[in-house]
Amino acid sequence: MELNRRTVIAGAAAAGLATTALGTGTARASTGHGGRKPVREPFGRLADGTRVHRWSLENGGTRLKVLSYGGIVQTLEIPDRHGRPANVVAGFDNLDDYVAKSPYFGALIGRYGNRIGKGRFTLDGKEYQLSVNDGVNSLHGGAKGFDKHVWDVEPFTDGPDAGLHLHYTSIDGEMGYPGTLRVRVTYTLNGRGEWRIDYEATTDKPTIVNLTSHVYWNLAGEGSGSIEDHELRIAASRYTPTDAGLIPTGELAAVAGTPFDFRHAKPVGRDLRAGHVQQVQAKGFDHNWVLDKGVTERPERVVRLREPRSGRVLEIATDQPGLQFYSGNFLDGTLVGTGGRAYRQGDALALETQHFPDSPNHGGFPSTVLRPGAVYRSTTVHSFGA
Ligand code: BGC
Repeated sequence: MELNRRTVIAGAAAAGLATTALGTGTARASTGHGGRKPVREPFGRLADGTRVHRWSLENGGTRLKVLSYGGIVQTLEIPDRHGRPANVVAGFDNLDDYVAKSPYFGALIGRYGNRIGKGRFTLDGKEYQLSVNDGVNSLHGGAKGFDKHVWDVEPFTDGPDAGLHLHYTSIDGEMGYPGTLRVRVTYTLNGRGEWRIDYEATTDKPTIVNLTSHVYWNLAGEGSGSIEDHELRIAASRYTPTDAGLIPTGELAAVAGTPFDFRHAKPVGRDLRAGHVQQVQAKGFDHNWVLDKGVTERPERVVRLREPRSGRVLEIATDQPGLQFYSGNFLDGTLVGTGGRAYRQGDALALETQHFPDSPNHGGFPSTVLRPGAVYRSTTVHSFGA
C-alpha cells in the first residue's frame, strides 16, 4: 500500500507527529475499530521462581508480543505488500535464552543506553563508578540493566489504542547510579498499526538517564538472512566517531563523502565494507548519528528503512537527538531465533533513538542529567507500510 502525501500528513498529524525531517511516509489507514484488550499468558519462571508473562497486542494490522522480563518485544508482525504477515524482529522462543545469552534482543535499555567510558562520570562535583560490563566500559546500564528485570505490566485500551504501561523502580545506587529512579514506559498500538513508545522517569537525587529500545529488525522476516539489501535513510549530516572501545571521541564529524552518509536512501551493504577506520574498529556500523533536527518538543521522522522484496517499510519518529545504528556486527551464528534459524553477522540491525553515548563525559553533547522535580520524557513512534 503506497499512500499519497496528503494521507500521510493527515495520519502523522493525528499521531501528533511533525513531518519535517523526512517528508513522505507510509502510514497505514486506520481500521476504525477500537483497540483490543491485550491478552496475558505465562512465559516461564526465573531461577528464583519469579513468574514472567507474555502479553499479546494487536491493532491496525500490527501484532506485538511483549515479555514482562525486560519489556522485551519478542515478536512484531506486519504484512508485506501482498498482505502476508511476518515477524520482523529478532528474538528467542524461550525465557532461558533471554536470561542466558541475549544481546539485548527487543529489550528496554536503562538506566543509560549505550556506553559510558570506563563506567565513570562526575555530577555536581561527585564522581560515580558504574558497573562495568563491556571491557573497561559500562554498556546499556551495566551488568544487570533494565533489560534483565521483571517489569510490572498494566494493560489498557483507550479509544482506538491498545497498549501496556510497564513500570520499574531502580533503587538508589543500583549499578552505581545515584537516585531512586521511577520509570514508566508505555507501548501503544494505534488503529493505524503504529507502535509508539513513551518513556517517563523521575528521580529523588540528581542522576543521568538515557532510555531506549533495542529491537533488532529484519523487514524480510526474522531469520531470513542478511539485512544488507535493506535501504536506509537517516536524517543526519554528522555522526560521533569513536575510539577502539566504541566511546565517542567528542568530535561531531560530517558524514559527507564517507560510508556514514545515509542522507539519501542506500542499501546498508553498499558501503559496509568500505574499510573506513571507524567501520573497521566497530566491525561495521555501530555509531551514533547526530540527528539534524536536534532535541525536539515532538517526535519527528528521522529514519526510513525499506526491504525491497517484501516492500515492507519502517519509519521512526523521535524527539531524541541521536540514533545508534548497529548493523548486527556481533551476531556470529551461535544464537538460534524464534523461527529456529541461526542469526549470523548482519542478519538484523538495530536503530536506537537516544541521547549520544558517553554524554555525561562530553560537555558539548546534549545533557542527560535528570534532577528531582523534573520529569524525563521521551517518545519514539514506529510506523509501518508496504
Ligand atoms: C551497541 C553495540 C552492542 C549492541 C548489543 C548496541 O547498541 O552499540 O556495540 O554490541 O548494542 O549489545
